Amino acid sequence: MKGTFPIDKFQSLRTPFYYYDTQLLRRTLELIRTETARYGNYMVHYAVKANANPKLLAIIREGGLGADCVSGGEIRAALQAGFPAGKIVFAGVGKADWEINLALDHNIFCFNVESIPELEVINRLAAAQGKKARVAFRINPDVGAHTHANITTGLAENKFGIRMEDMEHVIHLAQDMEHVDFIGLHFHIGSQILDMGDFVALCNRINELLDRLEAGCIQVEHVNVGGGLGIDYAHPNRQSVPDFKAYFATYAKHLKLRPYQTLHFEPGRAIVGQCGSLISRVLYVKQGANKKFAILDAGMTDLIRPALYQAYHKIENISSDRPMQTYDVVGPVCESSDVFGKAVDLNGVQRDDFIALRSAGAYGEIMASGYNCRELPMGYTSDELAHG
Ligand code: LLP
Repeated sequence: MKGTFPIDKFQSLRTPFYYYDTQLLRRTLELIRTETARYGNYMVHYAVKANANPKLLAIIREGGLGADCVSGGEIRAALQAGFPAGKIVFAGVGKADWEINLALDHNIFCFNVESIPELEVINRLAAAQGKKARVAFRINPDVGAHTHANITTGLAENKFGIRMEDMEHVIHLAQDMEHVDFIGLHFHIGSQILDMGDFVALCNRINELLDRLEAGCIQVEHVNVGGGLGIDYAHPNRQSVPDFKAYFATYAKHLKLRPYQTLHFEPGRAIVGQCGSLISRVLYVKQGANKKFAILDAGMTDLIRPALYQAYHKIENISSDRPMQTYDVVGPVCESSDVFGKAVDLNGVQRDDFIALRSAGAYGEIMASGYNCRELPMGYTSDELAHG
């Protein structure tokens, strides 16, 4: 089954562009709202890195979520979209002084701290501002996730987080500092995780760590388990709203949260992934030695995931019901890796047909580049096309 798109509205638009189905986004946010409401002490921060399009950020903010930011630029984008500073968390292994100061200026909810040198800098900059910064430590739980090696983050070999054996030491350091307030622990084991067993493994590890801290009389008010819930790239229409019910229920069942603790989540892909498609036009159909190429006006500069991670995005010819034929679908960029899919079955392709690359709402538009001096793609929402 193909997705449904307002093709008549697309005719006047310059391609390539991202198209966002805001109804689907709102349905996803509604499910998150009703499912978290069951538990009372669950708080969701949208991972802005997945997509910082201001129109989407505004909808996500309206949906009541907080924001998980990894740079000063993302903090600015979140504030501009109206996210309250008290719902912003700031992560990342390399926070620059100006970024820490920006976060302090606005009194964000919490810094997710990844090293002792970073903690010392935050303490010093907070002192200069006469403030106390709330900090959580990102602990590397050494839990593997069954996902692509480039997007696994919770293993001992990864650059992220503080080693488990150093946990008590860094907490004591923080407790002795005047300008930081230790409030919690932070974890993130990877992205595009579809096996709930991976999250169960994380819960088990967190349970061990919380018991250990409790035995040492260290109280942790906030536990942040990061993001990572995956989406169905092969079948974008099958479960277009990811199974947040099962996701939250997994944590409710396996994590032994104390009554005074709040559980924080940072999903990105599962919120925006399925609502976005990259829409392009076919420039040429070219006969190769033993195959046909469909050459699009979108390339790896617009959607880099296939070139960078060999990621699969479903490709559809949304202009045609012609009989199926097989194509290598490629972009115009001067790189052999500028390929969206090999031996793809599509309804017969002609010049000017619209081609949709599905499930591109997360890590699509935001990762676009200007390589080859190409322009960045625009992003349009279904709302604005309906009224425009
Ligand atoms: N929290 C932290 C600390 C993270 O590092 C990430 C993603 C998230 C939350 C959100 O994860 P999500 O729910 O979206 O899986 N560019 C790659 C994905 C990189 C993910 C980086 N960290 C891709 O296109 O697949």
